Amino acid sequence: MENMRNRRNIKHGYARGWGIQFGDLKEKTLNDPLYRQAVSLITGRSVVSEDNRINLFLIIRDYLKDIPAGDIIEFGSYKGGIAIFMATIARQSHPKMKIYSLDTFAGMPETDSAIDAHNKGDFADVDLDELRRYAEGLGLSNLEFVRGPFEQTAESVLSRSKGVALAHIDCDIYSSVAYSYDVVKPRMVDGGYVVFDDALYSSCLGATEAVEDLAIRRDGLNCEQIFPHFVFRMFKDRR
Ligand SMILES: C[S@@+](CC[C@H](N)C(=O)[O-])C[C@H]1O[C@@H](n2cnc3c(N)ncnc32)[C@H](O)[C@@H]1O
Repeated sequence: MENMRNRRNIKHGYARGWGIQFGDLKEKTLNDPLYRQAVSLITGRSVVSEDNRINLFLIIRDYLKDIPAGDIIEFGSYKGGIAIFMATIARQSHPKMKIYSLDTFAGMPETDSAIDAHNKGDFADVDLDELRRYAEGLGLSNLEFVRGPFEQTAESVLSRSKGVALAHIDCDIYSSVAYSYDVVKPRMVDGGYVVFDDALYSSCLGATEAVEDLAIRRDGLNCEQIFPHFVFRMFKDRR
């Protein structure tokens, strides 16, 4: 495939990463009516940064159409903001796509103080019933929130999906990031996108280490983007 090197699309990596960081892609996206509509629905409901949100918007709207059809899965919903954002965009550009967003909805599980900065119970201030009512009121029938530790819910969600086109791994701690990556990997469609929201954050060295240990060192992957977040492509053959 043109532009492919080490299982990443160099042209696409520059187009999104450089475009947001140094070009006019950020400004263009901030003025896009669909982006503006999706952002207006999540006020106070997401801790994901603006640049990360813009990149997710671009991947969903412009890039998922070029790979086999699949769903979106998010590991770490918190107040559901980015899940609602992604479902709003996908509803327009990929009407058959489902968005699954998984969380305990009771905060972080046990963390490892040797590597994680977060503590058990962080992010517990969320009301899942209110969140479900809100998403339903927006008509987002493509979005499903799944309650429970990933270790108890992910396998059955993935068995209901036809395959994953985009995995948004946003769960901050080593054990959860490592589990999410390993459980979703065999279910990715050819060329699917795995996005790690927080592995480049100073507050999430556990997430960083999971990406280093599993995606980079063990699996030998090269990322398609390092800005504004890590993006890896999952290809069935090795290019
Ligand atoms: C940074 S928040 C997610 C932010 C969210 N995507 C947004 O739009 O703002 C991380 C979430 O991961 C969840 N989490 C971490 N490990 C988990 C696990 N093993 N099972 C279920 N949820 C987990 C926490 O409960 C927390 O709500």
